[in-house]
Amino acid sequence: MCGIVGYSSTSNSIDLSEFVSMIKSLDYRGYDSWGFTFKDKDHLTTEKQVGKIPTPTQKGNATFVIGHTRWATHGKVTEDNTHPHISNSKNISLVHNGIIENYEELKNKLKKEGFTFYGETDTEIIPNLIEFHLRNSKDILEAFKKTLDELEGTFAITFLHNSSNKIFFARRDSPLVVGVDKDALIVSSDVTSFIDRTKNVIYLEDGDYGYINSEIKILNRNKEVHREISKIDWDVDKAKKGDFKHFMLKEISEQVDTVKQSLMQDSELITAVANRIKSSKVYIVACGSSYNAAKAAETEFLKNGLMPRIVHAHEFEQYEKFLSENSTVLAISQSGETLDLIKAVKTAKSRGTQIISIVNVQGSSLSRLSDQNIFMNVGPEICVLSTKSYTAQVAILMLIASALVIKPNQAKQEIEEIIRNIYYLTSESARKYTKELSQILRYSNHIFTIGRGRDYATAMEAALKIKEVSYIHAEGFAGGEIKHGPIAMIEHGTPCIVFVPNKENQDILSNAQELKTRGAFIIGISEKKHEVFDYWIKVVGPDKFSPILRIIPIQALSYYLAVMKGLDPDKPRNLAKSVTVK
Ligand code: AGP
Repeated sequence: MCGIVGYSSTSNSIDLSEFVSMIKSLDYRGYDSWGFTFKDKDHLTTEKQVGKIPTPTQKGNATFVIGHTRWATHGKVTEDNTHPHISNSKNISLVHNGIIENYEELKNKLKKEGFTFYGETDTEIIPNLIEFHLRNSKDILEAFKKTLDELEGTFAITFLHNSSNKIFFARRDSPLVVGVDKDALIVSSDVTSFIDRTKNVIYLEDGDYGYINSEIKILNRNKEVHREISKIDWDVDKAKKGDFKHFMLKEISEQVDTVKQSLMQDSELITAVANRIKSSKVYIVACGSSYNAAKAAETEFLKNGLMPRIVHAHEFEQYEKFLSENSTVLAISQSGETLDLIKAVKTAKSRGTQIISIVNVQGSSLSRLSDQNIFMNVGPEICVLSTKSYTAQVAILMLIASALVIKPNQAKQEIEEIIRNIYYLTSESARKYTKELSQILRYSNHIFTIGRGRDYATAMEAALKIKEVSYIHAEGFAGGEIKHGPIAMIEHGTPCIVFVPNKENQDILSNAQELKTRGAFIIGISEKKHEVFDYWIKVVGPDKFSPILRIIPIQALSYYLAVMKGLDPDKPRNLAKSVTVK
C-alpha cells in the first residue's frame, strides 16, 4: 500500500531529483503524501510533503538516501504522519510499508522510557524502538533484530542511521526487493523504481533483514543467507504511457494483445490443473476484480462438471478446518502481493494444501509461495484499476474450465477467434459510443448493473469499475435478485446497465422490463438491439466469452466518466494498486 525506495552506493551518488522520480514511479502504490531522507556525512536531512509528488526540483546529490510514498493506514494525511519517521535523537530516519499490530503497546512502553511522539502512525514507534535497543548495544544490526523480534504484524522497512554508511532493511509479509546496479544497490517495494537502471534483482524472502552499502548482507533467523540475482522479464517502456493520456486507456487498448498473450500457457499444466480441480477439493481464492474473474468463469466450470468453491481471500480462514493435502487453492492475483490472499495461501500451505497461482508479477510473494504458477503475461499494469489483468484472468480460467472437455489448443483457438471482436471494442470508433453514454450518465448518483449466469460476474465487475474510478455509486445485481428488494431503489431515469446474451439467460430481458416499467433508463449491452433498451451498446461475440467482451465497453465508460469529472483514472482517491494491508 506504500512505496519504499532506498539508494546506496559508496562510489556513485544519485541526483536527488532523480531519486524523487524513483519514489514517484511507485506512487501508484499510494499517493497521500511522500518524503525522503539523505545522509550527508553524519547528518540526516529530511523533506516531506502532503499530496501527490510534483515534478521533482530537488538540488544536490546523495549516496545514501531513502524515500517513501504513502497510502495512509494509521493517522490522517498530515505532514507529521508522512514518512520518513525520525527517532527522538534524530539519529535514525525510517520508512515502512505494512501494519504494526502491537504498536500501541510498544508506544506505551517507549513513553515510559521517556520517548515522545509527534504523529499518529504505527510506524513512528520503530525508529524509537531501535534507539531504545541501542542504549544497550552499539551494534545497529543487533538492535534492529531485537526490534524486529518485538514487532507483530507486517512490514517492509528501510532506515538510515547518521553514524552508518548503510541502508538497513527487513521484510515480513510485505514486498521488498533489491535492484543490483553496476555501482549501486537499490532496495524497493517493487522493481518499477529501478527497472530503467537495471534488470538485475534480488527478491528478499519473509524474515530477511540486513543492510546494503557497496554490498548486500542478508540474514534470516540470525544466520547469513545468500539470495540469487534474477532477471526482470519486462521492459521499462511497457511501464510508460506512450501516446495515451492515462495508463487506464492504454491498458484497456492493450487487451487486443494481452488476452492473446495470456493464452500462451503450457497445455500440460492447464490440463493438470483441471484434473486437480476434478480430483480434489478446490478453492479459488482472490479479492476484488480477481474474485470477479473467478466468478465469471464459474458457469464454464459448472457446465464442464467442475465445481470449485470460489471464496474471497479475506473470508477464507473459516474454511481452514476443511483443508488438507487433498485440497487445492487456486489463488488469483495481478500483483501477487494482496495481503488477504497471502495470508489465505499461508493458512492453506500450513495444512499441506497445494497452491496453484494465476499471477502477473514474476517474483511476487504469491508466485514464490506457490507450488505451480500460471503467469498472466500481460506486462505491468500501472493503473490502479484492473482491466487487462481481469480479461486475462478470465481467459486463463476459461482455458482451465474447458481443458477436460476440449483440447487446450481448441480452447485457445476459440478465444483467439474473439480477438477481432476485442480489437473493435477497444478501438476509437467503438469508444465513441461509450464516450456519448458517459455524457448521459455523468451526473448520475446511482448506476445499477445486472446480469444472469456468467454475466452476473460481469455486472459485479462493471459496478466495481464505475464506482472505484468515477466515485458514482454503482451496484451489481443478479438479474433474478432485483425483484427481491433492490427494485425498491428504482426511480424515474435510474440508469440500469443490462448484459443480454445472445441465447443464454433470456430472462434478463424480463428483469429489464420490470425495471423499465418502474421508470429505469435501460442501457443494453448485447449483440442484438431489444425494444426494452433506451440506449444500446453493440457487443458481438459468443455468450461463452461474454465476461471478456461485455466488460470492455464498461471499462471505457468508467474511464470517460472519471475524465469527464476531472478525476485521475490511474490513481483514484483512497485506493492503491496492491492492497498489502488486511
Ligand atoms: C480492481 O480494479 C481493483 N484494483 C482491486 O479490486 C483489485 O482487483 C484487488 O485489490 C485484487 O488485486 P490483485 O489482483 O493484485 O490481488
